[in-house]
Amino acid sequence: MSYQTLQQWLEQEEQTNGLPSELTRLVLSVADVCREISYEVSKGALAGVLGVAGTENVQGEEQKKLDVISNELMMKAVLGSGVVAACASEEMDHCVPAQAGERRPYLICFDPLDGSSNIDINVSIGTIFSILPNPHEDAASPTDDDFLQPGNRQVCAGYVIYGPQTQMVFTVGRGVVMFTLNPDDNTYLLTSPNVQVPAQAKEFAINCSNMRHWEAPVKRYIDELLAGKTGVRGKDYNMRWIAAMVAEVHRILCRGGIFMYPRDNRDPSKPGKLRLMYEANPMSWLMEQAGARATNGHESILNIRPEKLHQRVAVFLGAAEEVERVTSYHTAD
Ligand code: AHG
Ligand code: MN
Ligand code: MN
Repeated sequence: MSYQTLQQWLEQEEQTNGLPSELTRLVLSVADVCREISYEVSKGALAGVLGVAGTENVQGEEQKKLDVISNELMMKAVLGSGVVAACASEEMDHCVPAQAGERRPYLICFDPLDGSSNIDINVSIGTIFSILPNPHEDAASPTDDDFLQPGNRQVCAGYVIYGPQTQMVFTVGRGVVMFTLNPDDNTYLLTSPNVQVPAQAKEFAINCSNMRHWEAPVKRYIDELLAGKTGVRGKDYNMRWIAAMVAEVHRILCRGGIFMYPRDNRDPSKPGKLRLMYEANPMSWLMEQAGARATNGHESILNIRPEKLHQRVAVFLGAAEEVERVTSYHTAD
């Protein structure tokens, strides 16, 4: 059986759907650099890349060596693509503009390594990216404020997961495609051309250790799932928690389910743990493109107007019927 390569798929999109060639260039740059990150990740202890870097990011989180390495690689690659005016990352205080004397059409946000706590234990991690239009019509250097566009403005979003296989999953607004990196010749091959998430689910993901901090609608929803056949839902549910959003989203795209990281009462200044620009927006668009849903408990994540680059948000995403149900519990409250 022969598979289409990533490059062939993008060229076909250019011809049949008018995908801009600059976007092709950027997607290929991301794909290439993630192959390098995948390689660094695969060497693990052999390359001395495991463990902490001894620094903290802007959000006061300890950085792993691989967080720093991946961030540097991503930044160099996207700014070097020639089509990015500025990039913003979970690991950097502010956006970094390209040294451009000409207009460049895109901005890109990324979480260079999602699921950092999994690095040292050889469990799946990944790189998440979100590409936005550059609002400037001229060669002006973008600032942090230029990134504050809602998720429904994204022109491409996705992730590369480093697991048993390295896979690149993304959307340009016409469904979700999944490519698998062929280690024999280092090409990405199209293995799932139209990913769909069923509206119903029998698997959920949430960090139950935070249960005592949850708000009432989340407690109610999870209690009902845990009651299984004996409760109002009338069926048993299974649970998973990988502690890497990228891996949870990947599982949902492959076999359905719902993922939640709600806001809780631990720290009222933080409306959730996950970051809107680097994690929630790209994953939410993937979900909606696969026929699933994503809300913050009240509204579609893609409609949220960001106020800050490093803004956090509650996330409920996956199977449409489940996300709608838990969202309705919030609005009924
Ligand atoms: P990151 O490694 O980029 O900081 O993100 C980790 C996030 C997310 O991927 C995951 O779902 C969540 O943190 C896990 O949080 P807990 O440790 O609270 O389970
Ligand atoms: Mn992350
Ligand atoms: Mn990260």
